[in-house]
Amino acid sequence: MLDKLQEVLNEFEQSLDSVNSLPDMAQFKSEYLGKKGKLKGLMSGMKDLSVEEKKSFGAKANEVKQTMEEAIGKRSQQIELSEINAKLEKNWQDISWLERVKDKGQQSAGLHPLTKITRDLEDIFLSMGFDILDGPHIETEFYNFEALNVPANHPARDLQDTFWFNDMKHLLRTQTSNIQIRGMEQKKNPPFKFVAPGKVFRSESLDASHEAAFHQFEGMMIGEDISVSHMIHFLRTLLREVFKKDINVRLRPGYFPFVEPGFELDYECLLCGGKGCSVCKQVGWVEALGCGMVHPNVLKAGGIDPHKWNGFAWGLGVDRLVMMRYHIDDVRHLHQGDLRFSEQFKAY
Ligand code: DAH
Repeated sequence: MLDKLQEVLNEFEQSLDSVNSLPDMAQFKSEYLGKKGKLKGLMSGMKDLSVEEKKSFGAKANEVKQTMEEAIGKRSQQIELSEINAKLEKNWQDISWLERVKDKGQQSAGLHPLTKITRDLEDIFLSMGFDILDGPHIETEFYNFEALNVPANHPARDLQDTFWFNDMKHLLRTQTSNIQIRGMEQKKNPPFKFVAPGKVFRSESLDASHEAAFHQFEGMMIGEDISVSHMIHFLRTLLREVFKKDINVRLRPGYFPFVEPGFELDYECLLCGGKGCSVCKQVGWVEALGCGMVHPNVLKAGGIDPHKWNGFAWGLGVDRLVMMRYHIDDVRHLHQGDLRFSEQFKAY
């Protein structure tokens, strides 16, 4: 019997090192020390031994049990440690990076001002209960035009010079309004409200105020009895967040096929205080965004019953707003990727 005990212990010691995970260790432990384990199995044979033999066998069995428990404890610690080390190896971050870059006379640039304003806007709209949605840059004709009440051959398609793919079915989205339809499809049941920042693309000739890729910040709110004054409230809040003060705004009628009525919202020029200057082309007002009450056809295309629900939407050009906030005179500075440019905005 004692020999058998020794045999089990030897076998235990030989296989212990090949256990490499904590779940395997639990299994291994119950194989030897569990209720139906090998040690209990041997101990159940004790009843056939003489009193003397029982004593020495019992003592030895206890010793073996203790040895096994200690060895299992030690090995478990080793496994835990190597699991932690493996995790560290995989997820390490070099926090000395900034210092080393500085030593070489290089500096980290700040966040790009477009990123900054977009994040500011996201924060303020999140705090007002809006969701933030994202959508594809490569879009189908349906989401970019058709579902937004702009069927094929509609003259409004010419308002936006589009980059088409060869199949003439896919395009680079010309506006973040594609998220209106995708958002309604995703949300399904009004009331809901969301914003969607992102890049858009148009085949434009480039100059100080036109880039082929630029940024918009779309918003949509659908509910019951939503009115133009709700819309004005949120848009004023948006501008207050960008310029950190109350801003005078005015609405002019504007044509966008996906809203009825549609407006363009202007704000008082911050550079001249409304008196007229070169930035506002002497009118005292600057165009900020397009907006309006969502057209019933658009609601229908998004699967929403226009007899029951209504709402507003807007699309803001972020690049121009960045230029206004930081007094930047050429939109091309925003896209050059020159670190000296974004470095200037570290403090803002
Ligand atoms: N998508 C329009 C553009 O790029 C801007 C716009 C106008 C968006 C009116 C809207 C809206 O959501 O209601 O010119």
